[in-house]
Amino acid sequence: MLDAFLRNGVWVPNSCNQGTCGTCKVRVVHGTVDHPPAPDSVLSIAEQEQGVVLSCQTTPTSDVVIDPPTEETGSPRHVLRDIAGTVGAVTSIAADTVSVTVLLDQPLEFTAGQYVELAVPGTLETRPYSMANPPSEPDRLEFHIRRQPGGLATEGWIFESLDVGDPVTMCGPWGDFCYEPAESGVGLVLLAGGTGLAPLKAIARAALQDDPEREIHVYHGVRTRDELYDVDFWEGLSSTHPGVRYIPCLSREQWSGRTGYVGDAMMEDLPSCRNHAAYLCGPPAMVEAGVKALKRRRMSPRRIRREKYTPAV
Ligand code: FES
Repeated sequence: MLDAFLRNGVWVPNSCNQGTCGTCKVRVVHGTVDHPPAPDSVLSIAEQEQGVVLSCQTTPTSDVVIDPPTEETGSPRHVLRDIAGTVGAVTSIAADTVSVTVLLDQPLEFTAGQYVELAVPGTLETRPYSMANPPSEPDRLEFHIRRQPGGLATEGWIFESLDVGDPVTMCGPWGDFCYEPAESGVGLVLLAGGTGLAPLKAIARAALQDDPEREIHVYHGVRTRDELYDVDFWEGLSSTHPGVRYIPCLSREQWSGRTGYVGDAMMEDLPSCRNHAAYLCGPPAMVEAGVKALKRRRMSPRRIRREKYTPAV
């Protein structure tokens, strides 16, 4: 159902597209649907009794009528579509991490922070990857991809055989982890874990296009130095934009730079986040710890946007 809504320009908030976040709930008023059981933590028994379903997991088996979603996110509403392109570059950027650039057959409208689902060749499976480039570059998409042990897409394809010139098919854009330009003038705190840096790179670039003087604090957490990437990009950005501060943090290796977790590093640096907005992306534990840290620094919960990366095998 979610796919049908978004392809036809009917906006329904969505995030994981995997039945785990609960963002895409709608209430079926008339008609019949099929869906797998949803965990209570995502869809309560009371909601199920009222006909609420996760639209990303639900297939209509008749014409259906739904209540429009109650939650308005204010995110731009780009129509979901199939996308085709060709691999323009595959570059190793860190241990077990590559940057992949796809040159698109047709430009794609999206918002910084969103993702597409790449079709894994020879299977019916897809895997989500966030765009690391801003929407002002609509003819190409940049992805940061980390190898997952046993991963169908990474070990079976991307790290095995993907090469320049290969055709790629995708579907997107998905998600409402979106840069909000209306908040221009508010300082940004970006907390990333691993390749969760990708959508934050797109958000930082979009924010600086709106306001080159924007105050942006970028914390990138990885375990060891060989997992760090895009260091030159961020150092270059902070030398050309006086408002940008870039702080890489290692959690499992001593070095001359910062150590520990990104939320703790942010708390050491910023006595108050009252006039800031935040975007967090990375493993669930990092995101949850980061949200707690931001609240302790008095950031308004409505200004905290998050995307959890859960590795798909
Ligand atoms: Fe996350 Fe549907 S449950 S988008």
